Amino acid sequence: MTDLLGDMRRTHTCGELRETDVDTQVVLMGWVQRRRDHGGVIFIDFRDRDGITQIVFNPEVAPEVHAKAHDLRSEFVLGVKGTVVNRPDDMVNQKMATGAIEILVDELKILSRAETPAFQIEDRIEASENIRLKHRHLDLRRPKLQQNIIARHTAGRAVRDYLNNLGFLDIETPVLTKSTPEGARDYLVPSRVNQGQFYALPQSPQLFKQLLMISGFERYYQIVRCFRDEDLRADRQPEFTQIDMELSFVGEDEIMEITEGLIKEVFKKVRNIELELPFQRITYAEAIERFGIDRPDMRFGLELCNISDIVKDAGFKVFASVVKKGGLVKAINAKGCANFTRKQIDELTEFTAIYKAKGLAWIKVKEDGEWQSPIAKFFTEEEKQAMKERLDMEVGDLIFFVADSAKITNEALGQLRNELARRLELIDKDTYRFVWVTHFPLLEYDEGEKRYQALHHPFTAPLEEDLDKLETDPLNVRSRAYDMVLNGTEIGGGSIRIHSQELQEKVLKTLGISKEEANDKFGFLLDALASGTPPHGGLAFGFDRLAMILCQEDSIRDVIAFPKTQKATCLLTEAPSKAAPAQLQELSIRVAKIEE
Ligand code: AMO
Ligand code: AMP
Repeated sequence: MTDLLGDMRRTHTCGELRETDVDTQVVLMGWVQRRRDHGGVIFIDFRDRDGITQIVFNPEVAPEVHAKAHDLRSEFVLGVKGTVVNRPDDMVNQKMATGAIEILVDELKILSRAETPAFQIEDRIEASENIRLKHRHLDLRRPKLQQNIIARHTAGRAVRDYLNNLGFLDIETPVLTKSTPEGARDYLVPSRVNQGQFYALPQSPQLFKQLLMISGFERYYQIVRCFRDEDLRADRQPEFTQIDMELSFVGEDEIMEITEGLIKEVFKKVRNIELELPFQRITYAEAIERFGIDRPDMRFGLELCNISDIVKDAGFKVFASVVKKGGLVKAINAKGCANFTRKQIDELTEFTAIYKAKGLAWIKVKEDGEWQSPIAKFFTEEEKQAMKERLDMEVGDLIFFVADSAKITNEALGQLRNELARRLELIDKDTYRFVWVTHFPLLEYDEGEKRYQALHHPFTAPLEEDLDKLETDPLNVRSRAYDMVLNGTEIGGGSIRIHSQELQEKVLKTLGISKEEANDKFGFLLDALASGTPPHGGLAFGFDRLAMILCQEDSIRDVIAFPKTQKATCLLTEAPSKAAPAQLQELSIRVAKIEE
């Protein structure tokens, strides 16, 4: 049996009582974190979402209540009435916000009993993530996860306040819709009423927000769920949340200013951090040149250096032939790392192999200035001198080289740069370095499908000055797309859109999308474009990623109340699961034999 609340009313939370409250009569409600029986007096760490307060059962003060307290176990839910008292001097806990006081209990109600939890509710947790996800309701009791979820709420609130004040309208868009082109696989939902037909869940509200601009709403936002069936990673979930925005009558600068202001407001409200505006901007070309990847972590150096011109005729045939074939030879100087062991270098070689590098050449500059290296013998004195100058090679340095196609060289060294920074502990966890990456290529070539694809999405506007290259040199057409990158994570991306039907059709043609296909997929947008379309553009932030960084977590699963595993399953509800035969029949769906 558990007691009813009766006339007990909570007066305070478990996080708010201080020395100034001594002698006050209070009622607290919450969970038993831990019970300690000190030969007579029983101490309980009493927890609610606001914090922990020590409550005390003293047999000399309230014998009956004390007797009842013997039954209490972890995670029981209680209501307690008592008096705030000072802790004895030697019992004060400076590390706890409530550590100067405790509650001397004179009335106890056990509101609910609990089975022994699958794991102890505390932040230093040893249970595996799978166990935690299976018992997510318990996991979510952990103070750090509670703080994360609350921080996420605070961030969402700051976003809404900021955008509402700037005249943005929060408008909902459909979840049962047609395929939206963001480049991932769709989640499909069968229609019962229209047998054999399917809705797609939106990969983003991209087309709807453009339609809202055409309808004249001028400023739209939505904190909205998006669905993408793609390979999952620490910063990717099959359903995730965007802070989605679109504006009419603006160019890049205005969108960047407004979104920078938004991020500044969020950092202020959630972390009390004052960010400096404006954020740095670099072009995509510069990002690739200096950092190898389009989401550079700007918190450390270790920049890439192109040495193709120096080694184009070198005796090391791997380098020379790559340059002759139009590839790239680039290097990173890991300053002061000449003490790396063979094993460490082998590990890094394996690491770059993940990104398809065929090898990782290296040179150590020894105490006497001599080079220790598997490749040094292949270079002439002039080539060595030129490398030494370009790469600023000094005693104690370790230089890494990759020679391959531009794509592989940049990607492999860009990733190696991040890995080196992690290993060398060059990353200051409390620094926030934002950078806008602009002027992305409009298209990329898909080797598998043998056709061009939009790098962002097909509605991104090309840069005016590159328009004439659309037919002759499509890969060199730059776009009006921009990404906001924070500490090496792409937290948001957007673009100025095409607002003329004619240009939109031309871009679709370059993408190899026929008129019929275009009409079938997004004819409604093409028609709408011809009905009087304001110039418009926008951006979407990955809200989970932003929250992850605000909470200093490494995975977005830690800022989502009910996330999915790497295999896109929910261990708590056991979704996805089989459908009942009757349900399938109603939908006219037969499941083909599935190989286990
Ligand atoms: P994009 O596809 O770049 O742009 O998505 C915007 C932002 O959403 C986040 N994101 C994800 N977060 C978690 N899990 C995922 N699977 C995932 N995929 C993307 C990223 C990304 O920067 N409609 C355009 C926006 C626009 O053009 O306005 C769009 O969706 O942080
Ligand atoms: P090898 O002549 O194949 O033994 O290679 C000599 C060194 O060059 C080794 O350290 C390899 O890791 C490195 N190497 C081989 N191919 C490449 C490449 N494409 N880019 C960079 N280094 C390479």
